[in-house]
Amino acid sequence: MGFYGDVILPRLCDFAMRNKQLQPYRERVIGAAEGRVLEIGIGSGRNLPFYRSPVTELLALERSPQLTAMARNAPQPGAPVNFIEASAEAIPLDDRSIDTVVTTWTLCSIPDAAMALTEMRRVLQPGGKLLFVEHGMAPDRNVRRWQDWLTPAWKCISGGCHLNRPISAMIEGAGFRIERVETGYMPGPKAMTFMYEGSARPN
Ligand SMILES: C[S@@+](CC[C@H](N)C(=O)[O-])C[C@H]1O[C@@H](n2cnc3c(N)ncnc32)[C@H](O)[C@@H]1O
Repeated sequence: MGFYGDVILPRLCDFAMRNKQLQPYRERVIGAAEGRVLEIGIGSGRNLPFYRSPVTELLALERSPQLTAMARNAPQPGAPVNFIEASAEAIPLDDRSIDTVVTTWTLCSIPDAAMALTEMRRVLQPGGKLLFVEHGMAPDRNVRRWQDWLTPAWKCISGGCHLNRPISAMIEGAGFRIERVETGYMPGPKAMTFMYEGSARPN
């Protein structure tokens, strides 16, 4: 990927994900995980300390070797963690083998997010759940205009992050039924802080 992608971007990602304002989202979302869990795009491992005992095994998938290395060195949970260096668009796991899939601020930057969600659905047990917190398309027209305008340039400097993805519609479009979703702005620039937090089940 070159110096920017291999050295600068992983550090930027880690720095951005240390934001203390994200912590309450992490506590709620990760606290609802149970059984055999697959986390998509573990990044530098900022969710790891929040996994609790209903989790029996954590499979931590990440496409960046640099971020995987940071996550291996982060504080680990009690449950065993297996790191998988792979792309979310081609998850190297069996069908229906996972109880909980977790995604926190990854759907914005996965190049083919629809394919990744289809893969998440494939590996989930029929009774399993998808837990998510993502930023995405805002409901206000003015904010959406900024999101559409900024995204082409923002993608180039942020490792492919889209500001304007319609998160709930994407999840439903991959064959999930949303059980709960809470939306709202976090403090900060509105184009970057409209959050979707919730859970979904395979249809
Ligand atoms: C903004 S970071 C969030 C990291 C972590 N989920 C967190 O909450 O701290 C986005 C993450 O998605 C990962 N990612 C992007 N595209 C991916 C893909 N196709 N497959 C797997 N991971 C991907 C990035 O490498 C990065 O770690």
